[in-house]
Amino acid sequence: MYENEDSAPVRYDLLVVGSANADLVIGVDRRPAPGETVLGSDLAVHPGGKGANQAVAAARLGARTALLARVGDDAHGRLLLESQQDAGVETGGVLVGGAPTGVALITVDPSGDNSIVVSPGANARLTPEDIKAAGPLFRAARVVSVQLEVPLETVAEAARSLAPGSRLVLNPSPPAPLPEDVLTACDPLVVNEHEARYILGILGDTAGPAPEDWTRTLLTHGPRSVVVTLGAAGALVADGRTADCVRVPSPEVDAVDTTGAGDAFTAALAWRLGLGEDLAAAAAFAVRVGAAAVTGQGAQASFPTAAEVAAL
Ligand code: RIB
Repeated sequence: MYENEDSAPVRYDLLVVGSANADLVIGVDRRPAPGETVLGSDLAVHPGGKGANQAVAAARLGARTALLARVGDDAHGRLLLESQQDAGVETGGVLVGGAPTGVALITVDPSGDNSIVVSPGANARLTPEDIKAAGPLFRAARVVSVQLEVPLETVAEAARSLAPGSRLVLNPSPPAPLPEDVLTACDPLVVNEHEARYILGILGDTAGPAPEDWTRTLLTHGPRSVVVTLGAAGALVADGRTADCVRVPSPEVDAVDTTGAGDAFTAALAWRLGLGEDLAAAAAFAVRVGAAAVTGQGAQASFPTAAEVAAL
């Protein structure tokens, strides 16, 4: 299946294993308190999901990208497949059926910040057996990127399925306890502030250590490298091979909607690492991609091309 017309094996810059959701988005002046009802904007329905978002972001930048995911046999599933195909993503690994397509209920406030509740649907039916059946895709991929909107045992099987010389990038979102063999395979582990605090067990400790300290401490949990994203403040990167911790600044932009910006960042980072860039250089490119992605509405619709990143 993964051969071109001359039977030469196809190589993918990036294989994304993860979720595909229909994003149901409402703009709100403020989020309701428990027991309260607020009125919001008209409903918008966008293709989303952390896995599907990463695949579209990478392909739009020019990466040869494949997606391994599961959607329902329904209108949302068709919307997601169409957006992948429009972006040029290889969708032979997108399985159809078993449950309705995943749905994300998203509110976006005037500052562009979002809150998300996901109903996993078909994403929860992406099994370790589905990963084992996709051996040719894993053998063809330089980098494999995973997140946690699919079952943890599926993520663990993906980590075990890496071909020699390929690299695993994990964004543990939404955060969950990670098995040691998954953590030690990460190169890098990509976390935002909330995910970093969760892994470090300091969720309520807002006066705790500085982000530079978390980044170094996260390395001691096993990953080969760590990237901490800090929104408008850029990112911190630390490589276990050098133990250096480097801050990468972000360009200043006017944020409209932050949905999917982290996915665009991670996809860009994973792609550039696969091309052989070092962690700081790949992160310097990725923060520009993430910054561009917050300037438009929705997740995938706001992801930039390489030319748009260069013009930022
Ligand atoms: O990271 C943003 C994504 O999170 C949204 O597209 C939504 O589907 C949820 O998965």
